[in-house]
Amino acid sequence: MANIVEIENLTKYYEKGSVKALNGINLTIEEGEFVAIMGPSGSGKSTLLNMIGALDRGDKGKIIVDGHNLLSKKDLSTFRSQTIGFVFQLDNLLPMLSSIENIELPAYESKTSSDEMRKKALELLKSVGLEDKAKFSPVKLSGGERQRIAVARALINSPSIILADEPTGSLDSDNSQKIIQLLKDLHEKENITLIIVTHDSNVANQSNRIINILDGKVVNDSN
Ligand SMILES: Nc1ncnc2c1ncn2[C@@H]1O[C@H](COP(=O)(O)OP(=O)(O)OP(=O)(O)O)[C@@H](O)[C@H]1O
Ligand SMILES: [Mg+2]
Repeated sequence: MANIVEIENLTKYYEKGSVKALNGINLTIEEGEFVAIMGPSGSGKSTLLNMIGALDRGDKGKIIVDGHNLLSKKDLSTFRSQTIGFVFQLDNLLPMLSSIENIELPAYESKTSSDEMRKKALELLKSVGLEDKAKFSPVKLSGGERQRIAVARALINSPSIILADEPTGSLDSDNSQKIIQLLKDLHEKENITLIIVTHDSNVANQSNRIINILDGKVVNDSN
């Protein structure tokens, strides 16, 4: 299998260098892997995810994601919307839009027609078990339901990689497991590469590989 993520000596500083969030990360991830990233608060997990998802740019080293060199690439936003699906701890759904419109939102900039987009959004809504909530505002849904909408939203542009930063951090254990099962099903059926940051060892133990980060470095990597 090809490497979908290749990181060499990646460094990311904040505050003019006084905060070394990533301090020489070396890591390769193959297409179709399900990887959990663990480590204490402040160790650099979200920073690493943000580098892979091109939400922010590293300072030094090398990071190639799905064939794109992210330290030199000019247009990161097109790369991001075509390649990456994001799921965060808080769902960030927009309350003035319906559930289905929230799912469609990341596709507005793509060339997809609105009919096609609606069809795909409906399929996704079905796959997360919420087809009856299409017209509801997210404020009328439970936390677990909202997070399922967020997962559907992450999939609308058919990403090759899903980056999930503590996707179950605000959920109880039942809803947590539902979200993880959803992500696992996708990973298995569609061969999507799944990278999840989590503090929950129940979540991490369902992955194929656990990477531990400490002080901006990989300290353990177990397949
Ligand atoms: N935008 C920023 N500006 C300045 N410092 C930052 C910024 N983002 C993160 N940091 C610092 O970088 C380090 C790594 O932060 P990061 O958010 O990656 O940690 P984390 O492992 O995700 O922690 P947590 O488990 O609490 O989410 C921390 O010392 C943090 O304070
Ligand atoms: Mg974090």
